[in-house]
Amino acid sequence: MSPPKTTDAPAGTRRRILVTSALPYANGSIHLGHVTEVVYTDVWVRFQKLRGHECWYVCADDTHGTAIMLRAEKEGVTPEELIEATQREHERDFADFAIGFDNYGTTHSQRNREFVEAIWRRLRDGDHVVQRSVTQFFDAERGIFLADRFVKGTCPRCKTPNQNGDSCDNCAATYTPQDLIDPVSALSGTRPEERDSEHFFVRLADFEEVLRGWATTDNLQPEVVNKLEEWFAEGLRDWDVSRDAPYFGFEIPDAPGKYFYVWVDAPIGYLASFAELCEREGIEFDDFWKRENAGRTEVYHVIGKDILYFHCLFWPALLWGGGYRLPTSVPVHGFLTVDGTKMSKSRGTFIMARTYLDHLPADALRYYLAAKLGSGLGDIDLNLQDFVQRVNSDLVGKAVNIASRCAGFLHKHSGGRLADALDDAELFERFAAAGDEIAELYERRSTNQAVRRIMALADEANRYVDERKPWVLAKQEETRDQVAAVCTTGINLFRTLLIYLKPIVPGIARRGEQFLGGVELGWDDRLRPLLGETIAPYEPLMTRIEAAAVEAVVEASKDTMTASPDEPAETPEPAGPPGGEEIGAEITIDDFAKLDLRVARIVRAEAVEGADKLLRLELDLGSGVGRQVFAGIKSAYSPEDLVDRHVVVVANLKARKMRFGTSEGMVLAAGPGGEEIFLVSPDAGASPGLRVR
Ligand code: 2FM
Ligand code: ZN
Repeated sequence: MSPPKTTDAPAGTRRRILVTSALPYANGSIHLGHVTEVVYTDVWVRFQKLRGHECWYVCADDTHGTAIMLRAEKEGVTPEELIEATQREHERDFADFAIGFDNYGTTHSQRNREFVEAIWRRLRDGDHVVQRSVTQFFDAERGIFLADRFVKGTCPRCKTPNQNGDSCDNCAATYTPQDLIDPVSALSGTRPEERDSEHFFVRLADFEEVLRGWATTDNLQPEVVNKLEEWFAEGLRDWDVSRDAPYFGFEIPDAPGKYFYVWVDAPIGYLASFAELCEREGIEFDDFWKRENAGRTEVYHVIGKDILYFHCLFWPALLWGGGYRLPTSVPVHGFLTVDGTKMSKSRGTFIMARTYLDHLPADALRYYLAAKLGSGLGDIDLNLQDFVQRVNSDLVGKAVNIASRCAGFLHKHSGGRLADALDDAELFERFAAAGDEIAELYERRSTNQAVRRIMALADEANRYVDERKPWVLAKQEETRDQVAAVCTTGINLFRTLLIYLKPIVPGIARRGEQFLGGVELGWDDRLRPLLGETIAPYEPLMTRIEAAAVEAVVEASKDTMTASPDEPAETPEPAGPPGGEEIGAEITIDDFAKLDLRVARIVRAEAVEGADKLLRLELDLGSGVGRQVFAGIKSAYSPEDLVDRHVVVVANLKARKMRFGTSEGMVLAAGPGGEEIFLVSPDAGASPGLRVR
């Protein structure tokens, strides 16, 4: 068994391409991390379409698993209701970012179930499935087996309490939930019991030769190949593909009470979503997925680097075992950071797609991301100040500006009609010729370099207008007839830039096409100038974005009190209105009574490795049981100065799981942050546990 060679279609032919991006989970909203991925993919897809290739882009919501089941339960709805509502929201967000999916499906569909079952049968018939007993923690109160992350306990190595079942946030030890000291179920708080259950495993090692043959730099980025080689060297372990009821997903045929693990039916959702499209558009599904057609069509799965193992080992194994071809490539991109750090709710940089769209245009972020994204796996940073500056200077100040500088003269002196010849044909030719290099950069997903090249051309076009000075030519009788030719050249340079930018900023492109006479532009239109036609009066194609709008996005994204369990924030900010700021909204005495404020003594204080602002505090609230609280006060206090100090704590704040562990309360402090943080302390004599009123 060896995989077919997957190469690009020969140049000059109409390629047939299928592209996917990772399916977002249906248990949360779309955030800028998702947006980065779909913009990266969409730009490439739009580029291929613009070049005249047959290119299809499909995606879907990833709807199964324990997390969705539990969330639906918490919200008092059925999982089906939850995933349906989420899907509507996801689709709206993507549409408003101008993501041009050709189909957006769901993994919870009959068609997906059929694909899953068919692949499963082939794996079983091919003898790639084994059954083994697995011992796991079971929450008897909730009647459910507990995935590692739903078990908490004390780290067996460093003894830090409240650690996850698979690894310790404090000392980075990895272990199994059974190794934890005093394990408890995160669902019920009870001590889980050990139970055995039969699981199905796919023997990944059966596919090692195929996977190794495929995992080369012919198909994949070098960093990805290196990573895969490490995994091959470690040996491919059997993959546990079943979960016990209760589980929201597809039941395994002939195995009542056993369900396919969500990561089985998620990538198969790529096939199901594409099959829906095929039915609608009359595309031959087999052209893209049958092994013998692998040399004639191309399949790409764009993903983030966190799901490499799934897409470069499990998924190709499922495909091959199921009788399908392997992907042409799995392009991997880095993560998005905001202002240099991981997105954080407390800083207001964990930005939801909708929050952004409420204040700013999609094209601005699409442009900025495209200007940053390249073909490597490195993280890209959205620097909010740079974002405003760059969008305004490049898109508004350079690209769109050329059109606005030239259009007025044409309307004033020739009724909006373009001249019949260019003033500088050679310059136009050079712009057209640059398209080959720009296309090559797009093709390689070096979008950042493509943008750099396009903006260099925009500078050149502006220089041309500066030098020819149509406003001076227009003033003098004897040069007035040159104005139209100069402005026609300017407009045509702008038109070429618009073609090059079209995959990135579809909104500007659409308005630009209207301005140029309403004809949809293709890549080859760069070769022939637009002459003798009438253009529309100029309307702004893009206006400056304001720093205030970005501030509003950040403000609306700040959420210090209602962290969700997947809270990526490093730290809550100190509570209480910071000095000099307005006092918050009025509350009633009943609202106030809900707060359980207590005096606490700091028993232990220590820095948290990997966190710039956090201290881990162990507090005595008088009960004898220590409480762990993470406080963002490191910039103002040294841990050793805090021991034995009395503070005031919100004792009934819902526990929040943070990257470094769980925070079980909040210490009150005043001040704007940095060195100006002042812990609130009771007068001497107040003992731990006393209620503060
Ligand atoms: O990591 C995630 O968010 C997954 N929902 C991605 C699934 S991609 C594909 F395999 F379905
Ligand atoms: Zn530890």
